[in-house]
Amino acid sequence: MITRDITITVNGRTHRASVEPRTSLADFLRESLLLTGTHLGCEQGVCGACTVNLDGAPARSCIVSVAACDGADVRTIEGFEDDAVMANLRRAFSASHALQCGYCTPGMLITSRDIVTRLPDADEHRIRVELSGNLCRCTGYMGIVEAIGGVLESRPVAVPMEAPTRAAAAPPPMPPKPTVPAARKTAVDTDPKMTRLTQSFSVGFPRDAVWALFGDFPRVVVCMPGASLTADPDGGHVIGKVAVKLGPIRAEFAGEGDINIDAAAYSGTVRGMGLDKGHNSRAKGDVIYRLTEEDGNTTRVDVDVAFALSGTLAQFSRGGIVNAVADRMTQMFVANLEAALGGADATAPRAGPQTAELEGGRFVLSVLWAWLMSPFRRP
Ligand code: FES
Ligand code: FES
Repeated sequence: MITRDITITVNGRTHRASVEPRTSLADFLRESLLLTGTHLGCEQGVCGACTVNLDGAPARSCIVSVAACDGADVRTIEGFEDDAVMANLRRAFSASHALQCGYCTPGMLITSRDIVTRLPDADEHRIRVELSGNLCRCTGYMGIVEAIGGVLESRPVAVPMEAPTRAAAAPPPMPPKPTVPAARKTAVDTDPKMTRLTQSFSVGFPRDAVWALFGDFPRVVVCMPGASLTADPDGGHVIGKVAVKLGPIRAEFAGEGDINIDAAAYSGTVRGMGLDKGHNSRAKGDVIYRLTEEDGNTTRVDVDVAFALSGTLAQFSRGGIVNAVADRMTQMFVANLEAALGGADATAPRAGPQTAELEGGRFVLSVLWAWLMSPFRRP
């Protein structure tokens, strides 16, 4: 059994644990730390029942791998016991009858606290938009919206969000032989309009071989989960689409990207944008990728992304959900990339379980067109 040693801070207490890569943060919190205030509903990143604060922002703990939380600072509903804003929200929820069975309530409260502290001028429409990732089967939302609005009107004294510890922690060393997921990443909403993240992974092939494959655009597109070209590449300009799904949400982003290559530095930059007409949502972003030789037979790939989602899918660009999606897509991409480098047929889409899972609907969300299209160009 493969495990990874992590150090994670939960509600102010530091824990060290050996975890399996497939264990979610929610399962770790509930089963290892017995913090059962974090509820599980859909377990697909859709309902928001499992919402916790991860490095200061709400995240769906059911789709966050705890192995990726090394150095993270997590606060569950139990960790807000002495929090003044949360106390106001609890009182307001009670007064406004904002809960019935209470199953959604821990996640709803954590999201509500994020709204109150981050958006002091939010009106009812904005509150509803921000709450759209948290589902309640009982209340009809009116009481919840009223409760949040009431707390906002009372102008509570701003309480600083817990300081993220991940940035201060030493980054974990990259495993020697890699391959899949091994992602070092940060996802920080430093700009309210842009989300930034870094994904790094290693493949067990020499850098020149990886670089050659990256230059063969159609071959690499085959490796990208849900991606396909809709026209032949024209130099550094590519046109294609990305079909994705997250629970009941299906999106198809049609987009274009322009790629500039610095062959001497084994790096490239991409500027891309895409439109999902079904949800009237747009994605745009910039990507920088670099290939670094780790030893003669292993290459590390670093991808830095800054992107913005607008429209009805914008809620998914915040917090841990984008980390989780990027992790999953990276795992799929790396597996397919290594298969292609190993000589597998690169002319047909890989129908392995990872791709099937993505397309079969358990878990997919468009993070952004640009990230998916990043490493490509015609030589
Ligand atoms: Fe995590 Fe539904 S249980 S989003
Ligand atoms: Fe029952 Fe929200 S109060 S699901």
